[in-house]
Amino acid sequence: MKNEPLIKKTLRTLRRAVNQSGLDEKDAGSDPIALFEKWIVTAVEKEAFEPNAMVLATASPDGHPTARTVLLKDYGPDGFVFFTNYASRKGEQLTANPRAGLVFYWGILMRQVLIDGSITRTDRKTSEEYFHSRPRGSRLAALVSAQSRPVANRAELEQLLKDAEEKYKDSEVPCPEGWGGYVLNPTRIEFWQGRADRMHDRLCYTRVSDGNWKLERLAP
Ligand SMILES: Cc1cc2nc3c(=O)[nH]c(=O)nc-3n(C[C@H](O)[C@H](O)[C@H](O)COP(=O)(O)O)c2cc1C
Repeated sequence: MKNEPLIKKTLRTLRRAVNQSGLDEKDAGSDPIALFEKWIVTAVEKEAFEPNAMVLATASPDGHPTARTVLLKDYGPDGFVFFTNYASRKGEQLTANPRAGLVFYWGILMRQVLIDGSITRTDRKTSEEYFHSRPRGSRLAALVSAQSRPVANRAELEQLLKDAEEKYKDSEVPCPEGWGGYVLNPTRIEFWQGRADRMHDRLCYTRVSDGNWKLERLAP
């Protein structure tokens, strides 16, 4: 492949030596939410960059998949919570097809967690509480941004922000009706631990009933 940019060869040959200890069934335990908690605590402790960033995959009703990064803001037995604009592209897809996948990747630990499940909206109180905990600038931006819609130019957006700053200079920025949280209620959670020579560990939990999970090891 003559004259190809060097980066192309680099992409084919890039390998990173992995020297992580493994994930076994005994340490993993029977509760994937507890294991997720251990892993995200470690990601924070090891200073993974944006440890709560996760790729959210959604699909249109006719099966066209899309993905983007969002931030995990809460988790528990009911699921994994993030906040967004309900009228955004992801919001429209989730209204029509309330299923989604999440991918966490913590490169520093060679760890990945994949979560699939069904989606519901958080209640309004939860959305409002979180909205009002955000910095004022983020609240104003959420208010003026019709997320995923075209804007004429940057100046138009900045003018909208200025107008909102003026309008709410002496009052609380209200949580927009079309803004709030989603909870992904998991049916499958897979933990992937990178190991040497691509002999990675993959432990997959599939929900059998509320609070009960079947655990299987998957080939890497
Ligand atoms: C690190 C990171 C974190 C992000 N967190 C969020 C988030 O929590 N909520 C959100 O709506 N968008 C977030 N975004 C922006 C989304 O990736 C995306 O651009 C936006 O939500 C519009 O997506 P959509 O058009 O598919 O609906 C984040 C982007 C990055 C890179």
